[in-house]
Amino acid sequence: MNVHTIGVMMNGVTGRMGTNQHLVRSILAIREQGGVKVGDNEIIMPEPLLVGRNENKLKRLSDEHGGLPFTADVPGALQDNTWPLYFDAQTTVRRYESVKAAIAAGKHIYCEKPIAMTSAQGLGLHSLAERAGVKHGVVQDKLWLPGLRKLKHLIDSDFFGRILSVRVDFGYWVFTGEHEPSQRPSWNSKRAEGGGVFLDMLCHWRYVIDNLFGYIKSFTCLGAVHVTERWDEQGRRYDSDADDAIYATFITDRDIICHLSSSWCTRVRRDDLLMMQVDGMKGSAVAGLRECWIQPDSMTPKPVWNPDIPSPIDYRAGWALMPTNQEYDNAFKAQWELFLRHVVLDEPFPWNLKEGAKGVQLAELAYESWEKRRWMDVPEL
Ligand SMILES: NC(=O)c1ccc[n+]([C@@H]2O[C@H](COP(=O)([O-])OP(=O)(O)OC[C@H]3O[C@@H](n4cnc5c(N)ncnc54)[C@H](O)[C@@H]3O)[C@@H](O)[C@H]2O)c1
Repeated sequence: MNVHTIGVMMNGVTGRMGTNQHLVRSILAIREQGGVKVGDNEIIMPEPLLVGRNENKLKRLSDEHGGLPFTADVPGALQDNTWPLYFDAQTTVRRYESVKAAIAAGKHIYCEKPIAMTSAQGLGLHSLAERAGVKHGVVQDKLWLPGLRKLKHLIDSDFFGRILSVRVDFGYWVFTGEHEPSQRPSWNSKRAEGGGVFLDMLCHWRYVIDNLFGYIKSFTCLGAVHVTERWDEQGRRYDSDADDAIYATFITDRDIICHLSSSWCTRVRRDDLLMMQVDGMKGSAVAGLRECWIQPDSMTPKPVWNPDIPSPIDYRAGWALMPTNQEYDNAFKAQWELFLRHVVLDEPFPWNLKEGAKGVQLAELAYESWEKRRWMDVPEL
C-alpha cells in the first residue's frame, strides 16, 4: 500500500467548529475509514497535531481521542516540517495574522471562513500564498450539503428551465443566555471581537449564490441589531452590539433575483434551518439541508384567492420528495478530502483564498449598503 501521510497542524481545534466538524467529523473520520483512497493501492492519511494557546484544553482534547500529539508552541510547530499543512479555525479576528505567519513558514493553508476581517487583507493572503507557491483553500462547506447538491443536480439537468428567482430563509433563535445558555459563542454578538451575522453568514451566501445561480452583480442589504442585551459563557450580562439579522436582495449575472433572510432572531416553522426555494419556468424546487422537494409545471395547482373558505388545495401535497440516490458524507469532510487530494496529488481545488476574500468583500459592501441605504455593485476581485 502506498501511503501518503500528511501532517496537519490544527489551530483553534478546541473551538466549536475545530473540534466537532474539523477534528472529529473530518480528520479523525478520515483516519477511521483508513484514509482517503486515491487509487487501488494508494491512500492519503492525515496526521493531526493539535495546536493552540491553552495546553490544558489541548491535552484534554488529545486524551479524549487516544493521545493525539499537541503543543502550545505554535511558532515552533510552524518551523517543524513534520506538519506541512496549517489549518485555522480560530476566532475570525485572529485569522489574518495567523495564516500570514503560516504562509511565511511555507505551510499549505486551509482555513475557516471568514478568511480575514477585510477583503484587502483576504486578497493580501491570497497573493502571499500564490507568491510562496503554497496550496490554499477556504472552508465552503454548504456546497456539499445534500439539499444543495440535489438543487445543483436540478440546475445542471435543466429541471427549472429559465430560473426566475430564489428565496433563501435561514436562521433560528439564538438564546440570549439569560435563562437558557446561548448555543453560539458570545464573541459572535460583539462587533469588536469579530462578531456579527454579516461577516459570518454573507461569506457563505456569497459562494452559495455564485456557485449555484451566477456571480452576484449587485445587491441591497438591510441589517439589524435586534437583540441588544445578552449573557456570556460565564453568565455575565453584556451589550450585544453586533448585527444579528440580514435582509438582502441580490441580482446575479444570470439575471436571477435572490432574496435572503438570515437571522439569529427568528423561530423555526419551516422544514429545516435553511430553506431555499427556486422558481423556474418549467418547475420549482425547495431545498433544505438534506432534502429537496420539486413541483414541475405540469403538477402546479391553480389557486384562486378566497380566504372565506378553507383552502381546497393541500399545497404541501403537491410537491415530490427527491430520492437520495447516493450517500452524502459530512460536508466538511467531503471538502477536506478534496483539499488533501489537492495538496498531495495536485488535483484542482477552486475554493481558494481568493474565493474566501470574495465572501468578506460581500460582507463589507453589505455594511455600506445598510449604512448608506443604497444598492451596491460588486466589483470583480
Ligand atoms: N463553516 C461554518 O459553517 C462555520 C460555522 C461556525 C463558525 N465558523 C467559523 O469558525 C471560526 C471559529 O468559530 P467557533 O464557533 O468554532 O468559535 P469558538 O469560540 O468555539 O472557537 C474559537 C477557537 O479559537 C481559539 N481562540 C480564541 N481566542 C484565542 C486567542 N486569543 N488565542 C488563541 N486562540 C484563541 C479558541 O481557543 C477556540 O479554539 C470562526 O471564524 C467562524 O466564523 C464557520
